Amino acid sequence: MKLPILIALVGFFQGIHTSKQPNFVWIFADDLGYHDIGLRNPDLHTPTLDKLATKGVQFKNNYVMHACSPSRHSFMSGRYPFTSQMQKDVIFPVSPDCSPLKLKFLPEYLKELGYGTHAVGKWHLGYCREDCMPTSRGFDSFYGTLDGEGDYLTHMSAGFYDWHTNGTVDRSKSGQHSQDLHTAALADIIERQTEEKPFFLYFAAQNPHTPLQAKKKDMKKYKNQNLSDTLKKYYGLITGLDGMVKTIKDTLEKKNLLNNTYIIFLADNGADVGIGSNEPFRGTKSTLWEGGVKSLSFIYSPLLKKTGYENDGLIHITDWMPTLVSLAGGSVPESEGIDGINQVAMVTDARKSERKDMVYNLDMESQFGLPSSGQIAVRDERYKLLWGFPGQNDGYGLTTTYLAKVEEFKVIYKSLTTREKRAGRFTYPEDDQKVMNRLLAELTVSVDDIERGTGFMRLFDLIKDPYETYDLSTSDEPEHQEALHKLITFVQTPVGHYLPG
Ligand SMILES: *[C@@H]1O[C@H](CO)[C@@H](O)[C@H](O)[C@H]1NC(C)=O
Ligand SMILES: *[C@@H]1O[C@H](CO)[C@@H](O)[C@H](O)[C@H]1NC(C)=O
Ligand SMILES: *[C@@H]1O[C@H](CO)[C@@H](O)[C@H](O)[C@H]1NC(C)=O
Repeated sequence: MKLPILIALVGFFQGIHTSKQPNFVWIFADDLGYHDIGLRNPDLHTPTLDKLATKGVQFKNNYVMHACSPSRHSFMSGRYPFTSQMQKDVIFPVSPDCSPLKLKFLPEYLKELGYGTHAVGKWHLGYCREDCMPTSRGFDSFYGTLDGEGDYLTHMSAGFYDWHTNGTVDRSKSGQHSQDLHTAALADIIERQTEEKPFFLYFAAQNPHTPLQAKKKDMKKYKNQNLSDTLKKYYGLITGLDGMVKTIKDTLEKKNLLNNTYIIFLADNGADVGIGSNEPFRGTKSTLWEGGVKSLSFIYSPLLKKTGYENDGLIHITDWMPTLVSLAGGSVPESEGIDGINQVAMVTDARKSERKDMVYNLDMESQFGLPSSGQIAVRDERYKLLWGFPGQNDGYGLTTTYLAKVEEFKVIYKSLTTREKRAGRFTYPEDDQKVMNRLLAELTVSVDDIERGTGFMRLFDLIKDPYETYDLSTSDEPEHQEALHKLITFVQTPVGHYLPG
């Protein structure tokens, strides 16, 4: 007798829980540092973000990729970017690249489940043919820019005007600040929603990416603070972002939709070198140090079962795709072979993470004369293996501690722009290139090194040493050697079969 009643009750409660599909508002902040929110840094003015984060769930171990395109690709496809040649820095303007068309994107799944799907902001997953455009990849509508960065006002990117509505260039927006355009579009889209049809609103903000063209009204907040001009502008853009999130929240509330909506906020990667702060973590955007890939992130929703706490479960950007599909009442077939793991229990019920290990990245191709964003990093629940070149900026001084000691490199480094300091330079003058090649040969690992389990490597205990200060790779402790070998094997198989031969 008891069992059928129990099943009936479970069915009854599940029925209530899933009877209505929830809405999703996904917000990507562009190049926002882990430390760059009022909650963590009182210099900043972000009342809405602070409130949503503290009333929701803040993630302490939510990992993204090291740069824009790889992070967006992983979110949309639920896959590690190295499995489809998307692991490099970013997709550059007018390059003949896009996230592989054979991969089914999150909005395609959600559309099949009855969702309206809208993208506002930056795409950065390629546009070299019609099939690559957001409206060909599951979005009903798209409003914003296709490239990775541009002028907030003129919308010029690499010499091209880049403001689009659906698939069409929209010339009329030149001179209007993207923050105002985004705000109006977000409010308009939410205004048009009803309780009858669930929706997925994907907002990939331009703020606070360079160039730091904050609006005057947002910079006013910092007028009397003792901050550099760069920080005043960067913080102004973050306050601008806070205002856009307020518009989202207020419009949802006004339309009576907030209580059936998940608002998920993530930085797409760590802050850029010389601008924001990833404190207390080491490294910047475009590196595999924790500061490059640990995302300032939270979820807010009246639908969450437990709120107002910090969740330290391990969750990766690839996990969100199957998690949202599951919350929408669907599932990603196992035959798809995605890398993401359904983390509904962790996210909504504060249960343990389902994830036991993670690939930060795997990139053996050099760009700009460097494997610019780092070569290999993997972790399990405790230990992290950083193998080969970790990316240029480690957050302790100007560049990778090792290179910083080399006089010849210091001279070359002085001549680089901020961007080159982060990601390298396309071509160096001949003599400099020789020096770079020699230095980098000492820091990079080859495919042979990986097969042999040799080369420049570091092991960190992320529980005892989350800031990556003590390399344990040569420690005598059997536990450390065991962890090292386990992670080396993890890279070699099955991850290794993606290495270029
Ligand atoms: C873009 O597409 C959406 C959805 O089909 C439509 O509602 C909207 O009017 C379109 N916008 C423009 C300017 O064509
Ligand atoms: C402003 O900040 C600089 C650098 O941190 C510091 O040296 C200076 O004393 C500060 N000035 C005031 C008025 O606080
Ligand atoms: C959301 O709240 C409104 C009133 O505040 C209520 O009418 C509506 O039924 C609620 N929806 C859900 C899904 O709880």
